[in-house]
Amino acid sequence: VKAVTAPSLLAMRTAGEKIAMLTCYDASFAALMDRCGVDALLVGDSLGNVCQGHSSTLPVTLADIAYHTASVARGNKHALLIADMPFGTYATPETAFDNAVKLMQAGAQMVKLEGGAWLVDTVRFLTERAVPVCAHLGLTPQSVHQLGGFKVQGKTAEGAEKLKADALALQEAGASILVLEAIPSALGKEVTELLAMPTIGIGAGVDCSGQVLVMHDMLGVFPGRKARFVKNFMDGQTSIEAAVRGYIAAVKDRSFPAAEHCF
Ligand code: KIV
Ligand code: NA
Repeated sequence: VKAVTAPSLLAMRTAGEKIAMLTCYDASFAALMDRCGVDALLVGDSLGNVCQGHSSTLPVTLADIAYHTASVARGNKHALLIADMPFGTYATPETAFDNAVKLMQAGAQMVKLEGGAWLVDTVRFLTERAVPVCAHLGLTPQSVHQLGGFKVQGKTAEGAEKLKADALALQEAGASILVLEAIPSALGKEVTELLAMPTIGIGAGVDCSGQVLVMHDMLGVFPGRKARFVKNFMDGQTSIEAAVRGYIAAVKDRSFPAAEHCF
C-alpha cells in the first residue's frame, strides 16, 4: 500500500475514485483506520466537542491539535494526515505560517483553514512555503457566533454564488482540497464540477469527490445532538473495524451519503 499524498488525492479525483476521510484523534484509532484503508485522517478541532466536551470548537488550542496530531502520526502509516488550524490561529499570513509549522512538525502533512476570499493571501503564503492547504467552506463551525447557529449554508442564490467564487479563489491561491460542510447537494455538485481540486463533503451530497465524518458520529458514541448528515456505521456491525470498513466501502461505491443525509 502506497502512502496517500496531496497529488495522489488529485489523481483519485481525476480518475473518479471517491476519497474516504475520517477524523481521528489518537494512535490506536489511527492504526485501525489506516489498516482499513482510509485515504485521509483529519485531526479536527471537532475534538473540542467529542474529546473535550465543549459545545463549540472555539476553545480548542494549537497545543491541543499538535498533541493529537503527534499521537495520530505515530499510529498512521499510509493515510494523508491533515490537521485543523484552531480558531484565532490564522488571522494573518505570518501567524498562520508560524502556527502551521508547529502542526507540520507534530506530523501533519496538510493544514485546514475555515473561510473564503479573506484567506486568499494566507493560502498563497502557506502554499508558497511548502504547507499544503485544505480549505473549508459552507458551515464553518468556528464562525458559529456570526452564523447564528449550526445552519445549512448556500441556500440562497447569492450565498451559492459567493461560495462558488470563494472556492475558485482558494483553488487559485493554491489550496489542494476543499471541505464542503452542510450545503445543498446541488451546490456540492456544482462546486465539484467547477473545480480541479477534490471536494470532500460532510452534508454536501454524494457528488463531492469524497466524504468525511467525525469518528465519534460514525461509531455512534457521541452523546450530543446528531446532525442530519451523520450515519452510525456501527448499526448491524459487531466490531469497530467492520464499521470503518463499511464506511469506506459506502463512500467508494457512492451508497453514502443517501438522500436522507443530504440537504
Ligand atoms: O473538525 C472537524 O471534524 C472537521 C470536519 C467535520 C470536516 O472540520
Ligand atoms: Na474542524
